[in-house]
Amino acid sequence: MAEILVTGGAGYIGSHTILELFAKTGFDVVSIDDFSNSDESTYGRIMEISGKEVTEHPLDLCDFDSLKKIFSMHRDIVGVVHFAAHKSVPDSVAKPLGYYSNNINSLINLLRVCKDYKVKNFIFSSSCAVYGNTDQLPVTEETPFEKAESPYGHTKQVCEGILENYCAANPTFKAISLRYFNPAGAHISGLTGEMPIGKPSNLVPAITQFAIGKYDDLTVFGNDYSTRDGSCIRDFIHVTDIANAHVKAIELLLKQKDNFYKIYNLGTGKGISVLEALHSFEKVSGKKLNYTIGSRRAGDVVEIYANNNLAKEELGWEPENSIDEIMATAWVWEQKLKVLESAKK
Ligand code: WQD
Repeated sequence: MAEILVTGGAGYIGSHTILELFAKTGFDVVSIDDFSNSDESTYGRIMEISGKEVTEHPLDLCDFDSLKKIFSMHRDIVGVVHFAAHKSVPDSVAKPLGYYSNNINSLINLLRVCKDYKVKNFIFSSSCAVYGNTDQLPVTEETPFEKAESPYGHTKQVCEGILENYCAANPTFKAISLRYFNPAGAHISGLTGEMPIGKPSNLVPAITQFAIGKYDDLTVFGNDYSTRDGSCIRDFIHVTDIANAHVKAIELLLKQKDNFYKIYNLGTGKGISVLEALHSFEKVSGKKLNYTIGSRRAGDVVEIYANNNLAKEELGWEPENSIDEIMATAWVWEQKLKVLESAKK
């Protein structure tokens, strides 16, 4: 059976993509993950939901020799979906070298091994962070990059450049970069979702973990931006909508002949402010959030949301979930996680 290699398959978007691959395609899935921001128990939950098993390899993609061994064991890999990377904006500001070294070396290693083993289909997890602080909103795939606001965003700019150069030099290798806006929410089953290690830096898990009592503070980073309510604006997109776009991207890639490198924005097209997101959570959960207003966070762009026409036209993709559905599913999962964690104690 043909296999798809998912790097970061125990991670947040990776695990939801595996669930959609299992639900909608006949592929087997091999996952490589080093659990640096994920938990091995995710594979069990994928099994519980889908009834299908992921073949898992615990590994850091920077370990080239071990990566080669995995490809030598799996000769049926037809495509790679490369999620595994460090993704926190504030962390990357604090630890730039770790971000450059991990995010760039893992991509280079994978491309080298794909070449050795003649794997010709590749999907790369990119980010709206590549656009930097642009004032051309909504951003299209053609909007020029501004200077990245964080080392994280810069790693994504560099990785896209590497992929584009590599595709140009290797015409039989086909790739798609998917630029995620702000993925959030959890699986509709309520049985799996995001499991960040340590205090979350992303807004939605910060909200749900505060609401459940894991942390006693929730800070809105800045309410003095030049936006409608002073807080930053983002394009929050449900993780299952993002996952579905990967299934469509794989299907599109497999149909292509040579010389194919494309980029698609994955956002809803709607900008939601941080305060609006908090209010959506309050509405769907019935819980009041006693947040505080803090200072601006280094590395944050003011406002970003997508023009998603290209993904709609060429992938036949349509995001289906609203901010309320994002918050509702994230909240169901946070409560389920509490039950799972107290059962472990
Ligand atoms: C969103 C807004 C914060 C936490 C993310 C991903 C990155 C990339 C782009 C790709 C900001 C504010 C947050 C909190 C807050 N996407 N905030 N209090 O920085 O836009 O980057 O999207 O996959 O991978 O990390 O997302 O969720 O960290 O922040 O006020 O406790 O919420 O300042 O304005 P960001 P985020």
